[in-house]
Amino acid sequence: MATDTAATTEVSATEEGVRRRDWIHIAALGTAGVGGASVLFPLISQMAPSQDVLAASTTEVDIGAIQPGQSIKAAFRKQPLFVKRLTPEQIAAAKADDTADMRDPATLASRTKAGHEDILITMGVCTHLGCVPLGAAEGENQGDFGGYFCPCHGSHYDVAGRIRKGPAPKNLHVPDYDFTSDTVVRVG
Ligand code: FES
Repeated sequence: MATDTAATTEVSATEEGVRRRDWIHIAALGTAGVGGASVLFPLISQMAPSQDVLAASTTEVDIGAIQPGQSIKAAFRKQPLFVKRLTPEQIAAAKADDTADMRDPATLASRTKAGHEDILITMGVCTHLGCVPLGAAEGENQGDFGGYFCPCHGSHYDVAGRIRKGPAPKNLHVPDYDFTSDTVVRVG
């Protein structure tokens, strides 16, 4: 009996030791978590771009010389940027297709600015695997829908930069931009 009592006491002491160790372990983890969070926050806030960096990452494009039906290539954050001035016929065709069955449905109005629906600004980066589509330079293949054509795997974009045929999953991306005057656009 005395042996049983000693054994019970020993088990209890062992359990107590285990519980204590667990608690110390959990407390240490909790402290590490708080320490980790307090180290992480300054790192994250340091990663946010400063106003200087944001300003340097905008691009101003003079669109005054782009004739109806013409496109130009510019660069935005080291990637190609397409700026196209649509003809009245292209605007009408794009609007007529607003309700067409599309993989990534979007209206021309949603991809241009009010009062400037003739100016289409998109990234020149195919949404399939990132090739630069053709169609922004004179004489280049504009694909089956008169916009842009990606020769890498055959994606066809219409005059509003909407994907109409081929493997690309999304329309050409429209970056943030604003008109700073009737002829100058600031992208970014
Ligand atoms: S990268 Fe454009 S179709 Fe594949």
